[in-house]
Amino acid sequence: MNLKQLVGIESAKYVLDGMVVGLGTGSTAYFMVEEIGRRVNEEGLDIIGVTTSKTTEEHAKKLGIPLKSIDEVTHVDITIDGADEISTDFHGIKGGGAALLFEKIVATYSKEVIWIVDETKLVDKLGKFPLPVEVIPYGSQQLFKKFEEKDLNPKIRLSSDGKPLLTDSKNYIIDLYLEKIENPTELANWLDHRVGVVEHGLFLDITTCVIVSSETDGVKTINVSR
Ligand code: 5RP
Repeated sequence: MNLKQLVGIESAKYVLDGMVVGLGTGSTAYFMVEEIGRRVNEEGLDIIGVTTSKTTEEHAKKLGIPLKSIDEVTHVDITIDGADEISTDFHGIKGGGAALLFEKIVATYSKEVIWIVDETKLVDKLGKFPLPVEVIPYGSQQLFKKFEEKDLNPKIRLSSDGKPLLTDSKNYIIDLYLEKIENPTELANWLDHRVGVVEHGLFLDITTCVIVSSETDGVKTINVSR
């Protein structure tokens, strides 16, 4: 079993009958969705899933996991998702898979948020992984210039056809190549106040539990007190 599969399967143990479950996106979350699907089919696990991307929606549908949209549920009990980086103070960067907007919305309405990662995602400070910023296409060149002026090293994310990649909401992603983010809260606030920025990949004070897998130590669960 690979490291992503290990944490994916481990995290599915936190899902109980009757729960509304946020289903994350990415190659690690894939294994969690698979395992939840298996439990639904083989154990009769009774849950409602809320997906965070079209990709996860298609996957969950194929497995027969009952789904509702975030607007059709009264609450979300638990969300399980991957992450691109997690700092020692348990802030994170997400959005490598361009699903940060729905991921942040679903996480925001969740009582518990579990991140599942392999040990390579744990860092002292965030920023080595380019920070994704979702922007609406209109005015995006102006925003791009603002990011350049602030030395944020922006690059528009392209899809395989060389055109700007479109998110599920038909927005663009501008990745910021920062190397190190000294003050994530300050940067998040600055981005929050830029007109045209829909959302950014700084997930601060959101996770309540991190499940990490490593070659040497196997699977470790870290509860984060908030
Ligand atoms: C998608 C995400 C993913 O959760 C993140 O990129 C981690 O993905 P992976 O498990 O494939 O490394 O934020 O927008």
